[in-house]
Amino acid sequence: MGKVTVITSGKGGTGKSTFTAGCGAALVRRGSRVLIIDCDAGMRGIDLMLGVSGELVFDIADIVNGNCPPASAIYPCKTVPELFVLPAPQNVRDEVSPYIMKQLVTVLKKYYDHILIDCPAGIGIGMESASNAADRAILVANTEPLTIRGCDKVRQKLRELHIPEIRLVINRFHERSFRKLGTFSDLDAVIDKAGARLLGIVPEDPSAAACAQKGLPIEGKHKAVYAFDRIAARLDGVEVPLEE
Ligand SMILES: Nc1ncnc2c1ncn2[C@@H]1O[C@H](COP(=O)(O)OP(=O)(O)O)[C@@H](O)[C@H]1O
Ligand SMILES: [Mg+2]
Repeated sequence: MGKVTVITSGKGGTGKSTFTAGCGAALVRRGSRVLIIDCDAGMRGIDLMLGVSGELVFDIADIVNGNCPPASAIYPCKTVPELFVLPAPQNVRDEVSPYIMKQLVTVLKKYYDHILIDCPAGIGIGMESASNAADRAILVANTEPLTIRGCDKVRQKLRELHIPEIRLVINRFHERSFRKLGTFSDLDAVIDKAGARLLGIVPEDPSAAACAQKGLPIEGKHKAVYAFDRIAARLDGVEVPLEE
């Protein structure tokens, strides 16, 4: 039975989708079969990031509405075998309800080692649908006060949904800019304010953005890939010391 992880954030643009794609590929490198479900209805992006957008015919709403069997709406990522994408609907009005989403994910998790769910920003119904079936949640934040403040509301909502485990990923970390900004005394202050246990730190890495724009999952000797690999190991329960 696969483990279901929802990737959330209060504020948009913290790097949820980039993280989901990178972490999915890292879990595959560890030998897992991974499904990424894009729940960002109307703003879907995982298909573009993983280079499957040209092939899309069906999406998650088509499964729910009985237009196709689940397998027809799940697309293999060509460059990463064992990584699969279930796209979000193009229109927000086709958003899947939390109840149906839970039923669907409960069936799908029999066929994968990991399901990663890319959540829309905020705490609306889309976030609820994305989170309802999750065994755990990852909050993706940057070190700006506004994104950290957003964590509060999301944590509260995740608790209401009875998600037992909530972890924090600090994305786009850049030491020099962080110190220069000086809003927080150190990273511990950021983690305290976010209110969730740290799962890992992903550095600011231009190759993460460049790969996503080309529709390629970020791989190779990049700082972000190193971070994704370590986080993926932790998600599999391996004890990896946190970076200095
Ligand atoms: N670690 C990173 N280093 C550099 N750029 C990043 C990183 N993570 C995300 N980005 C960039 O940040 C922007 C927002 O990322 P995205 O994954 O679309 O965020 P979200 O899904 O939370 O809205 C994109 O331009 C993306 O390329
Ligand atoms: Mg996104």
